[in-house]
Parts: sequence; structure tokens; C-alpha cells
Amino acid sequence: MSQRGSKVAHKSRRRSQAIACIEDLRRLARRRVPRMFYDYVDSGSFSESTYRANERDLAAICFRQRVAVNVENRSLRSRMAGEDVAMPVALAPAGLCGMLHAGGEILAARAAQSFGIPFCLSTMSICSLEEVAASTTKPIWFQLYVMRARGFVERLIARAKEARCCALIVTLDLPISGQRHKDLRNGLSVPPRLAIAGLADMATKPRWCLNMLRTRRRSFGNLTGHTDGVDDITSLLAWIEQQFDPRVTWDDIAWIRRLWDKKLVLKGIMEAEDARRAVDAGADAIVVSNHGGRQLDGAPSSIRMLPQIAKAVKDQTEIWFDGGIRSGQDVLRAIALGADSTLIGRAYLYGLGALGESGVRLCLEVIAKELSVTMGLCGIADINVADAGILMPQEQMPG
Ligand SMILES: Cc1cc2nc3c(=O)[nH]c(=O)nc-3n(C[C@H](O)[C@H](O)[C@H](O)COP(=O)(O)O)c2cc1C
Repeated sequence: MSQRGSKVAHKSRRRSQAIACIEDLRRLARRRVPRMFYDYVDSGSFSESTYRANERDLAAICFRQRVAVNVENRSLRSRMAGEDVAMPVALAPAGLCGMLHAGGEILAARAAQSFGIPFCLSTMSICSLEEVAASTTKPIWFQLYVMRARGFVERLIARAKEARCCALIVTLDLPISGQRHKDLRNGLSVPPRLAIAGLADMATKPRWCLNMLRTRRRSFGNLTGHTDGVDDITSLLAWIEQQFDPRVTWDDIAWIRRLWDKKLVLKGIMEAEDARRAVDAGADAIVVSNHGGRQLDGAPSSIRMLPQIAKAVKDQTEIWFDGGIRSGQDVLRAIALGADSTLIGRAYLYGLGALGESGVRLCLEVIAKELSVTMGLCGIADINVADAGILMPQEQMPG
């Protein structure tokens, strides 16, 4: 571990006495991050029913307790997109991390690297692709939104190649942006629109304000300076709004497949039929995901859809899962139901907002510990052998 990595690990060890679980990180983030940006993370679209269902349906899955099995040497090690990983978890792409904590994407990427798991940078990041890639020694992953300006998309893919990104995650579940009521009410914008209520709230978060005043990174790092005729934040926001492209089809995926010769991951798959199309399109992995309940409200939880999708494309592509993971137990539930690996979003974003790099590190330590303990109590020592046999079958569940 680097000197910096061990300092962060030390800091996170001291903190870990106060932080026992992801919920503790969420509470601390809520105290430290201005409401506008905290709500941006802790919200779903429209009625938030899918957002809530993601967490609720995962938590309802019961484990079977097994005894008298030697589980002394437990291994969480696995592989994702050809990489060895310390556990089958990657940091999901998330826009605006740099508004939760100055330099947020760089801090999260470093925490992921020091823990030994992959980090995926969003198109909508605050720190640029080049800055984040330069801040780690291991290649990062890049998430792409297919925007109307295909020339811009092509340049972005070329930039991801130049920045040594080793996987491209194309997000397909955002042809139109889902509406989050809280963002509308809070007047969310980047940089923040300083209405009186927002200003008053920020004044109660002095640590965040100081932190932000010290950074020059307060806009969309991948877009600023790379979009024609867009020179100030107002025109940039207008550009983004009209750039989400409702015309994206599988033909565009074929085009991207031709441009990108490394690992290609398709994110936002919620139907077996779409999973098969993704395999045909040459996806090295798919992410069973409903965007954390931020897009189609009223869609089922992603865990409900996982078993049938896993059955449809098993062994033809890697199956990754996200949506509602708030513990290592949830990671194990998803793996048992057919996922090869998982992605976490809010769990690490809370850590980032609460404590920066050491908060992300703490989040990963909490998840690894919960995963390891739960595996042992289910009677398995290797994450790679987890299957539905460690879960209580649905028909035997009470109620
Ligand atoms: C604040 C926030 C921003 C997000 N931004 C993006 C994004 O830019 N691109 C993307 O593909 N997914 C984005 N997502 C979705 C995540 O990649 C992931 O699918 C989701 O967070 C998983 O659910 P979870 O937060 O319950 O773990 C975002 C999610 C959150 C919470």
C-alpha cells in the first residue's frame, strides 16, 4: 500500500469506531453536505417507489444459517471484466461526485484503487476524465451517455482511450431524464444556484463551504471546453439538457462496439430480452440496473428481475447487478441470485460526502466485513461458490 493509502487507511481505522454501517455514513453525510446535493443523492424519480423497492426487496431476502462447517479462511476475491478484484464490488458511475466533496471523483478513485476494486467515472463528473485517470496508477473505467452530438461522443471515447480507461460502460436507461421532485424544489444546478434558502443551508455546512472554496473544480470536467458554442455555465446546462438522446437504438451500440475494442459493458438492463440483445451486441458484461430508482419509477426492483435475466444469459456475458445495496449482506444476496459482481452507488456517495476519501474507504471496509461474516455464517468460505442454496427459498418464507 502507498504511504498515502496507508494514511487514509489509518484515518479510516480511527473513524471506524464511530461508523459501524452505511447508515452511519448516510447520517453523517446528511449533516455535512448542503441539502441540495445530499438530496440529489438520496432521492429517486417521481414517487420514489422503485428507489424504495430496490432496498426493501433486497433486505427481505433471508439467508439459511449453517453450522459446523470450517469457514476460517474466507475469500472475497473475484474477477470483474478480466481484472482481479478484492471483492465483487465496483464503484458505480455517479454524476456530480465533486459537489459532495471537493475533488470527489479523484478521492473515490483513489479509495477504490487502494482497496483493490474498480472505479467507474461518469460522463457527468466534476473532475475530468484526464484528471481522474492521472490520479491513479491503475486504469479506471469510464461511463458514457450517448448524446445527440455524436461527434462529441466519438471524441469522448477517444479521450477515454487516451486516458487508458480499460472498460467503457454505456448507460442505456436514460434516453430522457427522470424527474426528481427534490432536485426541482431545491433548484439544483452546478455551480449551485444561490437562492436565499440554499445559501442559508450552506451556511450551516462550513466544512463543505471551505472545502469548495479551495477548489477550482466546480463545473462538468468532461464537457467544459469540449462542446462547441458553449462557453458559460448557463449555456452548458442548456446544452446538457437537450443532449440526452431519446433516439438511441442498438445500431448506436454497434457503432460504439466498432469504436471501442476493450471491455464494453451495457448498463440499465431490466428485461431478459434486452439482456439477449446486449449479448448479441457484443457486451462483455451487462448491469442489471434501474439506475437506482432514478429513471423509470414504477419499474420493479432490480433484484426482482435479476434471477430471470441471469438465467437467460448465464455464461454468455458477465452479469453485474446494482440498486439498493447498502451492506455486504446485500452484495451476497445479489451474487446468490445470479450476479457475478455488483456495483454500489449511494453507499459510497454517503461515505464521500461524510468523510471524503477515508469515508469511501470506510464504506468498502464495512461492506467487506459484512460480506465476509455473512458468508461464514451461511457456511461458505469462497464468494465464488455462493448460489441460491444459501438463501431461504421464496416459498418457505413466512408470510
Ligand atoms: C447521485 C447519483 C448519480 C448518478 N449518476 C449516474 C451517472 O452519471 N451515470 C450512470 O450511468 N448512472 C448514474 N447513477 C446510477 C448509478 O450508477 C447506479 O446505477 C445506482 O446508484 C445504483 O443504485 P444504489 O445507489 O442504490 O446503489 C447515479 C446514481 C446516483 C445515486
